[in-house]
Amino acid sequence: MINNKRSNLGKKALWGLMTFFAIGVALYATIVYGSLNTDFFFPQQRLTYLAHLTGILTHALSASVALLIGPFQFLPRLRQKRFLSLHRWLGRIYLLGILLGGLSGFYMARLAHGGFPAQVGFSLLAILWLFTGVMAYQRIRTGNVRAHEQWMIRNYALTFAAVTLRLYLGLGQAFLPGVEFTAVYITTAWISWIPNLLIAEALIQRRYPQPRPTLSTAS
Ligand code: HEM
Repeated sequence: MINNKRSNLGKKALWGLMTFFAIGVALYATIVYGSLNTDFFFPQQRLTYLAHLTGILTHALSASVALLIGPFQFLPRLRQKRFLSLHRWLGRIYLLGILLGGLSGFYMARLAHGGFPAQVGFSLLAILWLFTGVMAYQRIRTGNVRAHEQWMIRNYALTFAAVTLRLYLGLGQAFLPGVEFTAVYITTAWISWIPNLLIAEALIQRRYPQPRPTLSTAS
């Protein structure tokens, strides 16, 4: 009983922390990129972004919508019968954010700061982001709620790369003063999403444990 209460409290605290960072990064991106004040653009890429304004604006704004909506879709309350229509509409907007954010993210990936290794990291992230979104949508269309939830956990873990990227960049600059920014940037193009995906898998395993094979199925 006490353990159950503690684990519920832990879940709520984690959800709160995730939502806090998601809202912070999404609002920051919307304000900075929506205001079109280029002084605040990522300085190393300012000229590239000015030359591909439609690409970066589509990306930053639509990905921010997904980042903002995501945490609320996981609330059990929003999946109750009386809120199901809201969950569906937010889900459609979320997926539209992924579609536009993913395609424009893939387009911007070939121009990323840090050259080839960063470009491959971001391209792979964009492909997996789109793929997990398609899987989540396809599963709910066929009525497989369990698989839909699992694919959405993977998908949001990738959406959350926007937060972890900026967190690791900040930490890298603060605690690795001898390492040049570009090296930190290339590293974060990978570690911003691979651990997120591993955590998502661990969460899925815990939440949806596989039935143990019985003697008759093990052979
Ligand atoms: C998860 C899939 C995502 C991919 C594949 C992706 C890809 C990219 C790429 C390639 C760039 C250009 C980087 C460069 O020029 O070096 C970029 C920049 C940016 N992305 Fe994403 N991104 C993703 C998610 C998000 C999300 C969810 C947000 C929401 C806030 C976001 C907001 C931004 C912003 C604001 C920039 C401009 C650079 C900056 O100010 O840090 N991205 N993204």
